[in-house]
Amino acid sequence: MEQDIIKIRGGKKLSGEVTISSSKNAAVAILPAVVLASEIVKLYDVPHINDVHVLIQLLQELNIDVTTVNDALVIDPTSIKNIVLNSDNVSKLRASYYFMGALLGRFKYVKMLYPGGCNLGPRPIDLHLKGFEALGAKVNIDGGLIEIQADKLVGDEIYLDFASVGATINIMLAATFAEGRTTIRNAAKEPEIIDLSSMLNKMGAHIHGAGTSEITIDGVNRLKGCIHDIIPDRIEAGTYIIMAAAVGDGVTVKNVIPQHIEALLSKLEEMGVKMLIGSDNVRVLPSEKLKGVDVKTQTFPGFATDLQQPISSLLALAEGDSTITETIYLERFKHCPELVKMGANIELQEGKAIIHGVNKLNNAEVTATDLRCGAGLIIAALLAKGETTIHDAHHIFRGYDGIKEKLKKLGADVE
Ligand code: EPZ
Repeated sequence: MEQDIIKIRGGKKLSGEVTISSSKNAAVAILPAVVLASEIVKLYDVPHINDVHVLIQLLQELNIDVTTVNDALVIDPTSIKNIVLNSDNVSKLRASYYFMGALLGRFKYVKMLYPGGCNLGPRPIDLHLKGFEALGAKVNIDGGLIEIQADKLVGDEIYLDFASVGATINIMLAATFAEGRTTIRNAAKEPEIIDLSSMLNKMGAHIHGAGTSEITIDGVNRLKGCIHDIIPDRIEAGTYIIMAAAVGDGVTVKNVIPQHIEALLSKLEEMGVKMLIGSDNVRVLPSEKLKGVDVKTQTFPGFATDLQQPISSLLALAEGDSTITETIYLERFKHCPELVKMGANIELQEGKAIIHGVNKLNNAEVTATDLRCGAGLIIAALLAKGETTIHDAHHIFRGYDGIKEKLKKLGADVE
């Protein structure tokens, strides 16, 4: 078993170009959504990340045929069997819960283990279940198994107390074949929701308003197959742009939709990062001393919570103080003690981190507590002279396609 570590000898400048892969958070919704199809679905540019591999195994557990033809994933759901999903694959990632909405939507019945996911504090699914019940489903949880069934699913108006990405997607999936119109109010507006909606509509669904806070789904009887190209990963793009601002000597990040990371780009400009923003790429120019800024995470299009851990490493060396306010996951600061081990000066308060800029970070042995924490530690390791070892690196491989190769291609000293 390959050691679960990444070693990085930092203090070097990176340069050249890196091409972003397609979106993990779109892919992990799109794969379960194929359960709704009655014909073959062909997906291009599916990222090669562990979360995708696990979801493919879950599709295969449902007797869905998944093959790779050239660079496309060919998924044939015509012999699907709605078995109880209780393998340990379910607990490997939170996004396994999209099978709840998809199987309920298709069969009006689903039974599976409760979802897993990284430790960002409590991650309830009450809004998902509220949505399913509004459509007429009954939810029964006993032990670690969740069972949801409905005689029939009828469209309804559902207000989300919080603009939850997962709940918005799961309700969309469950409502696809429901009778009549379902309206989701205060829906999440993330680009991954638009990508899923456009794929479902290509298959014959009637979904309108994805990307706005009000989404309507008019139930249909069946979905055809389709061919779909998944959007670029805005969080991976943001991570490499932050990395380029930290240790870059001229780095071009390609296959980017700048509109998906406007909040990050404007925050970096506020710090003094020089960038040339193209229609599908961002060229980060070598930056001098950067200024500390205040960051507050919001739902899309605000500053993405998934990028607050990576930008923390950049702020650790910025001039002056920075405040990070988390409004999505109040406990998403487990990367801070690791950065402190590397010499960062960070004070933690409830839902807040005050970062006092220091002059340098030192190499150390650190541990990735979750995917984006790991990404932040890679950026810190690239900033620190000497060799840093990042333990529990498996978290990073869940969501960053080919990260070692991409870093090496930029000139990083990584193994
Ligand atoms: C998605 O998680 C992403 N994951 C997360 O990315 C991302 O951080 C998050 O959205 C916010 O943008 C995927 O897309 C697979 P939420 P999700 O439902 O859907 C509360 C990564 O690193 N909430 O929008 O789980 C919840 O507790 C991951 O790629 C409820 O209270 O996020 C949290 O405070 C990490 N009840 C807030 O909403 C619910 O029923 C945001 O959750 C659901 C959520």
